[in-house]
Amino acid sequence: MSNLTNKRIVLGVCGSIAAYKSADLVRRLKEMGAEVRVVMTQSAGEFITALTLQTLSHNPVHQYLLDCDSESNMSHIELARWADIVLIAPCSANFMSKLAQGMADDLLSTVCLATRAPIVYVPAMNNVMWENKATRENVITLQKRGFVRFGPASGDQACGETGLGRMLEPVQISNQLIELFQPGLLQDKNIMITAGPTQEDIDPVRFISNRSSGKMGFAIAQAAREAGANVTLVCGPVKLTTPQGVNRLDVRTADEMKSVVMENINTTDIFISAAAVADYRPETVATKKIKKAASKLDLKLIRNPDILSLVTNEPVPPFTVGFAAETDNVRENALAKLNSKSLDMIAANEVGKEQGGFDSNENALSIYWQNGEQQLPMANKNTIARQLMTIITEKFREKSSANNALI
Ligand code: PMT
Repeated sequence: MSNLTNKRIVLGVCGSIAAYKSADLVRRLKEMGAEVRVVMTQSAGEFITALTLQTLSHNPVHQYLLDCDSESNMSHIELARWADIVLIAPCSANFMSKLAQGMADDLLSTVCLATRAPIVYVPAMNNVMWENKATRENVITLQKRGFVRFGPASGDQACGETGLGRMLEPVQISNQLIELFQPGLLQDKNIMITAGPTQEDIDPVRFISNRSSGKMGFAIAQAAREAGANVTLVCGPVKLTTPQGVNRLDVRTADEMKSVVMENINTTDIFISAAAVADYRPETVATKKIKKAASKLDLKLIRNPDILSLVTNEPVPPFTVGFAAETDNVRENALAKLNSKSLDMIAANEVGKEQGGFDSNENALSIYWQNGEQQLPMANKNTIARQLMTIITEKFREKSSANNALI
């Protein structure tokens, strides 16, 4: 069985002389067991025929966005959902620019915008176009947004020049794709992640909460799933779609979150606490809506359970990662939480600023563990989550081998 068996690949083909290699690429992907659906841009049709790609992929080729027949056959949204991965090979300079701009003016760019699957692009262009400042900036933008790039290679080009910009050979592309699909390092590990805010009731219509959107925790859940783990996501009230393959458990209050976490903690290998759990809740919850009769209202608050500390106080705690949301003295406060809560690692973010932290699509993290630290500069939360999971995996494996050596 090949590593691409049953993988569903949307292969995007752009207008480039390298499009002739896409035929061989389709053949290879099929040989490796993948199911391939080709999406061609209009200019790709100047270099290779839809019939060639259709014959090799054994599936109809998709070319048009606003076409009744193609939309009824498999709509652009269905295609975007169907994909385990979107592979764009060749990816022209023009299409890279469209991706970086988030445009959706043809079928392929719309599928890219509508998919939750990872997107891999394989550039193919003249070396001066590749080195152009605009292209360089597009590469950085795409990297920040979590796009994966294969190549380009250096060598003789169809235009007669020599340099970087050649599309990788189909065999190189399929090999890199196999690596991407390798069973992750966290295969069979159970990871529990908390995400989002909690809501603490004041009366039947009012509650105390915070600005957490859950985006950071959901991105971590997706990254953990990509690394092969069994993922349980315990989340407060958020408006986000559950990443594919993740077991989601919804809660509302800190107390409910505590109960669900503790019910599942014995089978958890790694616990990551990205939720913004309310530290306090009203001492009593009014059974009827509080009337605005008095000019002043005192609300008495009591402490909520500290879920992280309960987890690390277990007889055999999992590898535990806390978050620290700080407006000042980030390092000192994070290190104090690392020690006082007996954590294996803490990820600190500065909050209360315009960019990063609560309800932003980006974040920057300072990660601390005993005798070590690492900075993850501001980037899209999906990228940050993948980088964080890489560090967690490394430290978790180090701790596991040290524990095994002691047995
Ligand atoms: O959800 P987003 O909009 O994407 O925003 C992400 C985030 C800013 C919420 C996230 O990155 C983050 O920092 N989460 C932790 C927020 C927080 O509550 O930090 P804290 O410093 O108050 O708490 C420290 C740690 O203790 C956290 O891991 C928290 O989950 C945990 N905690 C806190 C209180 C409590 N009663 N029980 C807990 O387990």
